[in-house]
Amino acid sequence: MQRVDTKVTLMTRFSIKVSVLAATCLIALAAQAAPDAKPVYFASNCANCHGTDGRSATEIMPTLAGQDRQTLLASMRAYKSGERSGTIMPQLMQGYTDDELQQLADYFSAQK
Ligand code: HEC
Repeated sequence: MQRVDTKVTLMTRFSIKVSVLAATCLIALAAQAAPDAKPVYFASNCANCHGTDGRSATEIMPTLAGQDRQTLLASMRAYKSGERSGTIMPQLMQGYTDDELQQLADYFSAQK
């Protein structure tokens, strides 16, 4: 009886190990997909105001799609530093690192 219990325990441990291994593989796969997925994820935070993929639906809101990369980056950095004033953008840009601003500039400048 004792022996059977030990076997069950070993089997349970083994299956936990297999599950952990499978989960690790999934995480590794997800991490691999991240470099491409990240800019789209960041850019979706801008869609509410600037439109899908930065194509604004109104005259009031600036279109980001297809703007020059350096211009976009300079605007975002200026909002972040407080050099450029605005209603919402100065606060919003506080939440992004410079690397993320570059990814956003890459993304929106690549939109047609
Ligand atoms: C809540 C609405 C809102 C969201 C969300 C938003 N913006 Fe803005 N954005 C504005 C407004 C309004 C302006 C005009 C400046 C101001 O009033 O702050 C602006 C201006 C800009 C400008 C200057 C454009 C130009 O042609 O001068 C850039 C660049 C910009 N936003 C980038 C972004 C990016 C990138 C995101 C997403 C990370 C984003 N915005 C999210 C409202 C928003």
